[in-house]
Amino acid sequence: MLAVSIFFTVLIFGAVFYFAIKYRRRSDDELPGGGHTGLALEVVWSVIPFGLTMIMFGWGASIFFKESVPPDDAMNIYVVGKQWMWKLQHQEGQREINELHIPINRPIRLTMTSEDVIHSFYVPDFRTKQDVVPGRYTTTWFTATKPGKYHLFCAEYCGTKHSGMIGWVYAMRPEDYQEWLAGSPTGSMADRGARLFDDLACANCHHADGSGRCPTLVGLFGSTVRLAGGGAVKADEAYIRESILNPPAKIVAGYQPLMPTFQGLVTEEGVVELIEYIKSLNAKPGLEQTGQPAVPGAGAGSQPGNQ
Ligand code: CUA
Repeated sequence: MLAVSIFFTVLIFGAVFYFAIKYRRRSDDELPGGGHTGLALEVVWSVIPFGLTMIMFGWGASIFFKESVPPDDAMNIYVVGKQWMWKLQHQEGQREINELHIPINRPIRLTMTSEDVIHSFYVPDFRTKQDVVPGRYTTTWFTATKPGKYHLFCAEYCGTKHSGMIGWVYAMRPEDYQEWLAGSPTGSMADRGARLFDDLACANCHHADGSGRCPTLVGLFGSTVRLAGGGAVKADEAYIRESILNPPAKIVAGYQPLMPTFQGLVTEEGVVELIEYIKSLNAKPGLEQTGQPAVPGAGAGSQPGNQ
């Protein structure tokens, strides 16, 4: 784009100066002659720039889509921003504050939310900046390529100590990262989510075999859920979060709106642990539901137009 822009800038400004001098008015009574038009010339200088800009558009759009969609094999890390710190959780259970340890050469996907106001997760060296918004999840992803220590900033003014909401990202060789993970033994996020699931008595309604008054959560994550009143939704992190904090928002077809809200009863970190627990139910053998699927459409694969 820079080369194309330089080429046309030189061409256009060169022509402006050349013609301004060549066709300057030479005497006070000189009148311009009639204009000439050339259809072929008009077509050529319209079609060539059009083609060039379409190439740039197509190229840019493909980069944009690649940048917007995390790869399937990305490693999930959960981020909760609050005044004035970054709280990070690894799937394996490690929790960090204002520090993030990651392996290099592995795509890292961040699922982020805030407990209070808007923050922004900013790692200049990774060209990563994404707002972190209360009440919803935002995601971003990156792949670190060189081991090292990189600045982490908050890039959205969020109150008195905004400037102190900083930290470090440690990009490590995979073997060092494994060593770091093993260094602080702790239950996985899914384990903590399972304990929370018990504490909140979720299993009273959500039976694994689908016999409860509420949909089973086995096989839920990633499935397409049909909703009462028509429509369908993909069961992703945002859907599960909403279903915990604001259950009446989306009622599964065939079920009553019985579930109370857990807003205020479970923290944002608790919500992501519950999400990891629900994800882990997909992988556990021996919990497969039998007979009628309790979540309509669960496991039925994708539905066109709902991706
Ligand atoms: Cu958080 Cu600025």
